[in-house]
Amino acid sequence: MAMRASMHLVKSRTLLACAKEESEYRVRHPENSSPNARVLVLGGTGRVGGSTAIALSNLRPDLRIIVAGRNREKGASMVATLGGNSQFAEVDIENVKSLEAALKDVDLVVHAAGPFQQAERCTVLEAAIQTKTAYVDVCDDTTYSWRAKSFKDRAVAANIPAITTGGIYPGVSNVMAAELVRASRSESNGEPERLRFYYYTAGTGGAGPTILATSFLLLGEDVAAYNKGEMIKLKPYSGMLNIDFGKGIGKRDVYLLNLPEVRSVHEVLGIPTVSARFGTAPFFWNWGMEAMTSLLPAEFLRDRSKVQELVQLFDPVVRAVDRIAGERVSMRVDLECSDGRNAVGIFSHRRLSVCVGNATAAFALAVLEGSTQPGVWFPEEPEGIAIEAREVLLKRAAQGTINFVMNRPPWMVESDPKELGLGIYV
Ligand SMILES: NC(=O)c1ccc[n+]([C@@H]2O[C@H](COP(=O)([O-])OP(=O)(O)OC[C@H]3O[C@@H](n4cnc5c(N)ncnc54)[C@H](OP(=O)(O)O)[C@@H]3O)[C@@H](O)[C@H]2O)c1
Repeated sequence: MAMRASMHLVKSRTLLACAKEESEYRVRHPENSSPNARVLVLGGTGRVGGSTAIALSNLRPDLRIIVAGRNREKGASMVATLGGNSQFAEVDIENVKSLEAALKDVDLVVHAAGPFQQAERCTVLEAAIQTKTAYVDVCDDTTYSWRAKSFKDRAVAANIPAITTGGIYPGVSNVMAAELVRASRSESNGEPERLRFYYYTAGTGGAGPTILATSFLLLGEDVAAYNKGEMIKLKPYSGMLNIDFGKGIGKRDVYLLNLPEVRSVHEVLGIPTVSARFGTAPFFWNWGMEAMTSLLPAEFLRDRSKVQELVQLFDPVVRAVDRIAGERVSMRVDLECSDGRNAVGIFSHRRLSVCVGNATAAFALAVLEGSTQPGVWFPEEPEGIAIEAREVLLKRAAQGTINFVMNRPPWMVESDPKELGLGIYV
């Protein structure tokens, strides 16, 4: 009871701080930010949520971490990994009562209990607003993220800071895009014209079964991209390009996919031409994805229960291949400006299952530190992650990367540049 009372104080202090400095974009010193705050990680028994909980407890051992999900055994095992400052809460996100009860004494909820594709409601965000709890999700679905965004006014009225699409991609890649655009606007006379996201992940990236469902569900969605300001619809897993992801990853084939950062970057940063491509390894998985898109009707791939059956079928083979494929991940963001200036950012890590947790934890800490305004925001919005807070966020997310570079000309990031001597590479 005493603990509950003290947690109420932490919650009201966090919200009070947001209210007091509502109009400022600010970064507080991490050590001073909501000490002993309580963070509930929904999906904390899964790969992304579990990795987030571990990263949070490493970065801020003072935080009380509540791992939430439907399975007690998985919860107990995660609590054993995290140690004394953690506990498990049984929560089903479809059950509003259990959600609201779990959020009652919590300062921040991290929602990693996907899949987000084809979900009909934003139950966790609604409960967060209802219980006045700050919110971050790792959503990777366009429809879901814009539905979350439609709660902005309600979040403002409740004085709740919330971030949607706050993982690695989308998430850190949005912040990389925002920083490339900001640098180009301050350093050149040209206007940013085209931004392209390229992603590579070996196998499933050590992710849980949900990622397989996510991938199949995405194959059922037409790809939304922007061409000179016009939205165009393209076939999923088409438009292959061979992209150089630089040191440690090399050249990889990538294909068009419907990802939320395309629309948010177009609308928030005002870039006329935007697209996102993704590729995996071994190469035959790319062929399999192309074949599924061509052979299976889109309605089948959009049906969550049919996709779950497919997942059961494919999961053992995918896991077996994962053991050989590893889980390297790379994100490359390319920006082209009207004056011919091109700038590239690259983020590569040996283990997706680790860096997705670092990335999500970085967003969670930014919210706890007061870098987010009340409302619902995408990561590239300055009200979502204050411009001055981006550097700290990227630094936390980039822990353990094998290559992290920003704002470089394309020739400088090539995996195998030809050296002509005298330090000249072509
Ligand atoms: N933005 C990004 O960078 C990014 C990157 C990778 C993945 N993701 C997304 O992250 C999500 C999770 O992926 P993952 O690999 O961690 O999947 P996972 O290992 O299968 O974990 C899913 C978790 O969600 C929980 N869960 C599922 N349904 C639930 C419900 N109704 N109520 C409460 N908990 C529920 C599961 O717990 P129980 O089954 O025990 O309840 C489990 O802990 C996916 O949607 C994926 O697309 C985002």
